[in-house]
Amino acid sequence: MYVCICNAFTERQVRTALDQGVRSPAGVFRARKCAPQCGKCVPTLRQMVDRHQAQSVDAELALPLAAE
Ligand code: FES
Repeated sequence: MYVCICNAFTERQVRTALDQGVRSPAGVFRARKCAPQCGKCVPTLRQMVDRHQAQSVDAELALPLAAE
């Protein structure tokens, strides 16, 4: 599904950028080598960034438990 219509990038492409270390909506645009146009996708990007970071923290916290 498209996240940004103006720049034609998809949810999958955003997830790939996040997996590669992008930590902000601006970083997603930089990774895609484009710039925001209308800005309507920014709240969705922010939500995806926040969710990805929360999942990363959950995964880090789960590691010590899994190792025990
Ligand atoms: S939908 Fe992303 S800048 Fe317009």
